[in-house]
Amino acid sequence: MFKLDRKIIISASVALSVALFSVGCLDNETSPKVSNSTAKASIDGGVYYPIVKDKTGPYLVNPQSIGMKINNGRVPTANEILAWDKDIMPDGTGLPEGSGSVEDGEEIYEEQCIMCHGDFGSGGGGYPSLSKGNAQELQKTLTNNRWKDPDAEGPTRVFGSYWPYASTMWWYIRDGMPHTRSKTLSNDETYALSAYMLNINEMSIDGVEVDDEYVLDREKFLKIKMPNQNGFVPNIDGASGSEDVRKFYANPANFGGKKVKISQRCMKDCQKTTAKIRRIQNGGISSFNPPMSVAKDLPKKEASDMGFNVMKSYENNCLACHGAEGMGAPVVGDKDAWAEVMKKGLDAVHKNALEGINGMPAKGGASVSDGELKQLVDYMIEKSK
Ligand code: HEC
Ligand code: HEC
Repeated sequence: MFKLDRKIIISASVALSVALFSVGCLDNETSPKVSNSTAKASIDGGVYYPIVKDKTGPYLVNPQSIGMKINNGRVPTANEILAWDKDIMPDGTGLPEGSGSVEDGEEIYEEQCIMCHGDFGSGGGGYPSLSKGNAQELQKTLTNNRWKDPDAEGPTRVFGSYWPYASTMWWYIRDGMPHTRSKTLSNDETYALSAYMLNINEMSIDGVEVDDEYVLDREKFLKIKMPNQNGFVPNIDGASGSEDVRKFYANPANFGGKKVKISQRCMKDCQKTTAKIRRIQNGGISSFNPPMSVAKDLPKKEASDMGFNVMKSYENNCLACHGAEGMGAPVVGDKDAWAEVMKKGLDAVHKNALEGINGMPAKGGASVSDGELKQLVDYMIEKSK
């Protein structure tokens, strides 16, 4: 199920970028001008391309505008542009009227979001978590991180603790989620889901806790203040303004980290310094996480991320069926169910999991080795004792 979803996601985003690309190319004013006669130099040194038999060079020309210009489609209508212009800004621009309750949000979430984002937005299986970022952990901002304490962990990268503006979340859900059927949610549903997001992130609006009874509307939405709103830029613009700023940027340690001993700008052999900033080399990208910049705000990579990780593999390959009732699979954590399974003896259970049994596909449909599959089975058994 997850595999299938991923494929759809990939093709959807390809389609989206293609669509964006072609709209981006449709600028009426900058399209090269084309005449019907022979090529001749234009004033700025460019060339007019002749159209012969609906072709210019090897390219077919859209017959809609023969003789006018080379076209990668057609000029979008004003309404088509409006349809793409759907930004929702922190000041409320673009945010429609509507309302929705936490209760409704939870219901929609359980129907349409939980299979990817997990219980209460816990994430997993490669899908981002939507909660877990405890808004109380305000001290962990990028600002403090880069400036005051370069070694501190950054804020958890989820909505509640990281995002500067809630409007982005509203827009993201309305426009992009649920991932495989985006743009199907109504405005009220989006308000309800947003309320639920605030609820699972334990947030308040205007001093009022977004509890289970809360009903969110546009007016209240615009009062949301995200904890990390000012966490992206150092607060150095205080009373003595420009002086502070100059002082701050005069010290490279403020943006390179205090352990980096660069007392002056590096003009030569910079990559040999102890600076943690590295340049991406050809072919070196995959070994580089994250690309560019100083990466203090990302969680540290655990040793167990290397090689086969039973827990991750379980989440990716087995959780979908074994995570909750309803799939006919013994639920991991359900002692009785697993005691029943284990009556067959471990060897038989391993064999059934390897070869499949009834609704259980061979190896659970996962691309893992036999040994890894056994580790997975043992993990599930261990979790269900
Ligand atoms: C088929 C799987 C799937 C479903 C269903 C789904 N999402 Fe997502 N969601 C994703 C993926 C994948 C991303 C990350 C997309 C990216 O980064 O490009 C994401 C990202 C998000 C984000 C942004 C998270 C962040 O911090 O970057 C929010 C908010 C979100 N989803 C909310 C929802 C809501 C609400 C629903 C239900 C209406 C939903 N999603 C349903 C897969 C899913
Ligand atoms: C498509 C759903 C699905 C997936 C994915 C799935 N399982 Fe299962 N699994 C089932 C069902 C259904 C059963 C119950 C089969 C029965 O006995 O009727 C089951 C049973 C099992 C059993 C008990 C076998 C027995 O002898 O009774 C084990 C062990 C098991 N699965 C391991 C795994 C592992 C490990 C993964 C991940 C690699 C996995 N499953 C992925 C559906 C699934």
